[in-house]
Amino acid sequence: MIIERHQDVTPAVLEVMQRTRDPRLREIMVSLVKHLHSFVRDVRLTEAEFREATAVLSEIGQRTTATHNEMVLMAGSLGVSSLICLLNNGDHGNTETSQSLLGPFWRLNSPPVPNGGSIVRSETPGDPLLVNGRVTDQAGHPIAGAEVDVWHASPVGFYDNQDPAQADYNLRGKFTTDADGRFWFRSVKMMGYPIPTDGVVGRLLKAQDRHPYRPAHLHALIFKPGFKVLISQVYDPSDPHIDTDVQFGVTKALIGDFIRHDEPHPTEPDVPSPWYSLDYDYVMESGEAVLPRPPIK
Ligand SMILES: [Fe+2]
Repeated sequence: MIIERHQDVTPAVLEVMQRTRDPRLREIMVSLVKHLHSFVRDVRLTEAEFREATAVLSEIGQRTTATHNEMVLMAGSLGVSSLICLLNNGDHGNTETSQSLLGPFWRLNSPPVPNGGSIVRSETPGDPLLVNGRVTDQAGHPIAGAEVDVWHASPVGFYDNQDPAQADYNLRGKFTTDADGRFWFRSVKMMGYPIPTDGVVGRLLKAQDRHPYRPAHLHALIFKPGFKVLISQVYDPSDPHIDTDVQFGVTKALIGDFIRHDEPHPTEPDVPSPWYSLDYDYVMESGEAVLPRPPIK
């Protein structure tokens, strides 16, 4: 069709989208064009703004490398990552879920550690943290023999790969759940940290007077054949940014039971006070155990 007026553009494009052979791709493209054109009409996007928008998208791509993903940061900063996580888990968004965002710092080959062991591999000053986790199915039955990969930032907010002062794989380890679905380990209490702000996402946060912080959290990736891989983050409710996570990842189900103890540890005399404990139950859903692609090496 030959276009005469702006009203003709959307039907012309939709007619082409309708010819997409794959039905799911067709559904996505038809809806995308409808919403995209509506958005342009809604805000009456100017030519200068459109040129700026295309430049921003190009910059997001150009800034994305093997060690930095500006696109993932933007998706998180707009709440899209959180929305997709909650729509696709917890019985398709009907119940709470232990699932959360993978984030950009998971590494594939974390070293195995026996239960009770420590994931501190180099001098890392900070308060001791003793973690007790349990992995169950949705009916509450323990899942034995699940591989639990954990990782977290240091007490000053850096992951091992961001910080030359830390040993390789510091604050990372892989555990196996016992017959009761339990795993446990020692570490140091992590801090929250700012996401990188030297790109497009940083300019957006500045324009909205938003801080760049994520509240302190413990990452886990739990693998057991017969279950959907559980990608989780458990958050510290005492963190000052617990209700303003820049990536919108905090949900009520992911608030951890972090407790400060000023008295000596009852059974581990070498743990100095104050020390912290974290108890958390991870719930896996049935499904296919497919590992995500590691965002970094
Ligand atoms: Fe993180």
